[in-house]
Amino acid sequence: MTSNSECVACVKGPLPGPKSKELLDRWHQFEANCVGYQAPVVWDHAKGVVVTDVDGNRYIDWTSGVLVTNVGHCHPKLVKAVQDACEKLLNNYDCANVPRIKAAEAVVGITPPHLDRCFFMTTGSETTEAAIRLMKRKTGRFEILGFFGGFHGRTYSAASVGGLSGTKKGYGPTMPGAIRTPYPYCYRCPFKLEPSKCDLLCLDFLNDTVRANSVGSLAGVLVEPYMGAAGFIFPPDGWLKRLETWIREHDMLFTLDEVQSSYGRTGKMWAMEWENLEPDLVCIGKGIGCGIPVSCLAARSEVIGVLGVGEMSSTVGGNPVSSAAVLAVIDIMRSENLVENSLRIGTMMKKRLEEIQEKSRILGDVRGKGLVMGLEIVKDKKTREPAPDLTRQIIHRCAENGLLIGSVGIFGNVIRVAPPLVITEKEAEESLGIMEKVLVSF
Ligand SMILES: Cc1ncc(COP(=O)(O)O)c(C=O)c1O
Repeated sequence: MTSNSECVACVKGPLPGPKSKELLDRWHQFEANCVGYQAPVVWDHAKGVVVTDVDGNRYIDWTSGVLVTNVGHCHPKLVKAVQDACEKLLNNYDCANVPRIKAAEAVVGITPPHLDRCFFMTTGSETTEAAIRLMKRKTGRFEILGFFGGFHGRTYSAASVGGLSGTKKGYGPTMPGAIRTPYPYCYRCPFKLEPSKCDLLCLDFLNDTVRANSVGSLAGVLVEPYMGAAGFIFPPDGWLKRLETWIREHDMLFTLDEVQSSYGRTGKMWAMEWENLEPDLVCIGKGIGCGIPVSCLAARSEVIGVLGVGEMSSTVGGNPVSSAAVLAVIDIMRSENLVENSLRIGTMMKKRLEEIQEKSRILGDVRGKGLVMGLEIVKDKKTREPAPDLTRQIIHRCAENGLLIGSVGIFGNVIRVAPPLVITEKEAEESLGIMEKVLVSF
């Protein structure tokens, strides 16, 4: 528990606090209890990186929701833009409205030049579904290559192409033509090789995957620039560029799923910038609206242009309110240099986390770029046995000390380090202190 007056975080007693407890009991009585494990806290309000719960406890947020609130919680410019838009016009399905036109222009303006069109939707899954459909439609083929551990949403095609059993188990056959191949999860290499000696065997293995599985109808590849839900797994430098070359050699389309990696998260506006990738389609979500539900598919016009009038729509996609949010977010990111802050603070935090790793018996791996890092929790650093139970205890203890974190991972043992990009050095230091205290206590 924390109560130092110098600190941002302040938790007054064990969790859940009395009001949180009562509300959580009510919640579980009425809404299906199927979300992932979270600290027992009921959020009341938040500003920047600080969340206050219904009991008045304050926490530093390392979740950004789930990599959503990049410009900080309730940024006043974003709130104002949304309020103003609400007063003018809430919805006009499939029609032009001024914020929508400006938002499309702005998004195309910040994507690499070869992506000259976009289309607004509401969720990340909607964009990955649309990308899968488009890759099929443009090529006239039906096979889509995805990756072990890939996550592109819980809808049918997205889950089928993804490589996590949790989104598929119990729902019967997956989409015909969905093929998966290993992603370079170097800490747990599927080929049991050392990254320094493997010569990226997983890339050569793509040919084996295709030989064994394809019926000769490959339309495209859907891949994350780093795997999010699988555990913030970053491929070695150069892997994505070599993948892109392989895709081009095989006359396929390339979709990059930047639903969580975009809008400054990795220390560049787009993760694709790290290797100058030129995907045909880019899925954008989460940070584009920073809490307002909006997503977007960015595309080369010759790919998306295959669709005729009436062939793609979304009930609330491109509505004036979310479009106003898209515009405000871009404006805030630029005026507050949030991409630069993500890289600067992220680099500092990673260094400190690596030092904490030396002192901790259970922190097996620290990986990431900018303000998205994964901390892999293990029972033993030598055996690397995943420790999901310890991870849940860490989430609880961190919350009791004023730090909100979440977990991901194929084995549920990876802590997400993903604060809003507005985090200051002081807030980063304070939160790292909490993480260190908790990790070395195991
Ligand atoms: C890489 C990636 N793609 C797609 C999705 C699905 O987005 P949504 O939950 O908005 O449908 C997510 C969500 O976490 C994601 O991380």
